[in-house]
Amino acid sequence: MIIALNNKSNLGKEDFYVYQERIGDIEKNSQIILCPTLLNINLFDLENVSLGAQNVSTQDPGAYTGEVSAKDLKASEVSYCIVGHSERRTYQRETLEEVHDKVKKLFEYDITPILCIGETKEEREQGLVGQVLKEEIETATYDLTEEQKSRLIIAYEPIWSIGTGIIPTLEQIDEVLRFIKTFLPNTTLLYGGSANEKNIDMLKQSPLIEGYLLGGLSLKPEELQIFINKLENK
Ligand code: PGA
Repeated sequence: MIIALNNKSNLGKEDFYVYQERIGDIEKNSQIILCPTLLNINLFDLENVSLGAQNVSTQDPGAYTGEVSAKDLKASEVSYCIVGHSERRTYQRETLEEVHDKVKKLFEYDITPILCIGETKEEREQGLVGQVLKEEIETATYDLTEEQKSRLIIAYEPIWSIGTGIIPTLEQIDEVLRFIKTFLPNTTLLYGGSANEKNIDMLKQSPLIEGYLLGGLSLKPEELQIFINKLENK
């Protein structure tokens, strides 16, 4: 199983030093991918954990004020990068085209994209889940090679579930993951959205979930250890 930790815009330098020690102490068989803030990336110092970023520039290094390139992420030993998170699509108005360009740029520098897709509450109520996800998948992946598609990681994150404590039913999740597999049969699939130590017993019943993208829980190492113990039947 993959457990990707999305710190979002949390943990200043001093807090991060304490935090990463606690993450380093976690007992697990799963692969943990820690995605700290950009400033914390160069403070990362764990051997049994993979390093991810939360965003990347669409461009190579150059006159792009405030951006960080895939080339520089690679030089900082970043192996994974979250792309198309709904918070960026909403607050930074990231477009489908930009998400596509970021995925391409990451592959150019041998960084594995964790592509986030998901529908809003209104889209689900209007029966638009398939249409929304199809567009997000197709625009981001249409010109990837089969090899790239099989290396890609998709995180299905229903937007109405992120940070709300509300999660879909297992049937709803599996229906969506099966749908994603019709486009990307060999892509690794994560679930994200309020996954925690209380609902993992339910979530782990899914035969299709291959890992989790955790926001809130990523900031609570003790609860995260409980989550992992339950996931791994310990
Ligand atoms: P959450 O966030 O676990 O706090 O719902 C998940 C995410 O935004 O990736």
